[in-house]
Amino acid sequence: MEVVIVKDAKAGGELIAGAIADLLARKPDALLGVATGSTPLPIYDALIARTGAGDVDASRARICQLDEYVGLPAGHPESYRATVLRQVVEPLGLPESQFMGPDGSADDVQAACEAYDKALAEAGGVDLQILGIGTDGHIGFNEPCSSLASRTRIKTLIEQTRIDNARFFDDDIDQVPHHVITQGIGTILDARHLVLLATGEGKAEAVAQTVEGPVSSLVPASALQLHRHATVVVDEAAASKLK
Ligand code: F6R
Repeated sequence: MEVVIVKDAKAGGELIAGAIADLLARKPDALLGVATGSTPLPIYDALIARTGAGDVDASRARICQLDEYVGLPAGHPESYRATVLRQVVEPLGLPESQFMGPDGSADDVQAACEAYDKALAEAGGVDLQILGIGTDGHIGFNEPCSSLASRTRIKTLIEQTRIDNARFFDDDIDQVPHHVITQGIGTILDARHLVLLATGEGKAEAVAQTVEGPVSSLVPASALQLHRHATVVVDEAAASKLK
């Protein structure tokens, strides 16, 4: 695992956008796994700016989701499909045919989870997976105590994550779904390069446990220690509890 400390979120976004640009130069149709939430936005902003300036050709890039809410009506603006379309796919000018994600409105959610793992494998696997981290160390929606070998599956959100995400639902926790589909930790570890961005003091404890603590299902992000190519990019505030 490599740890890179940057000045702030913008610098982290630019650094990671640079890694994506290098990947796309080597492999124009790379499969890029994207996370949602606030943290990765500077990455997407920097990547979109680079493509707009003509520095990067992302026209053949393929995008895939990390997770999705279960039970939101199709097209709900806070579904992760709609969010990734709005924040990444459309600004990069990519057709929806280059975008894949799990079907959170499927009648058979378990079958949808299995189909997504299969689709990722058939697409050749994720080349670079962007990750954020929860204050409790979750990645994707793999909350503490998730199996480190888990595959894409349905999970119940813990109360704290629903409280954290209520800001996307008019600050009304009752609107936040209880269930999600998430790539499992084992699925995430299949990606060829994992890049986790953490910014702000609120993530400092989770970062310290991820990087310096034992590998433990109590801190799902600590599974990155098991990966042969994992990069943790942290701003100075998120790095403040590293020894
Ligand atoms: C969402 C996801 C989550 C977030 C995490 C941090 O797709 O993967 O694990 O990365 O909850 O969220 P923010 O970045 O909003 O602090």
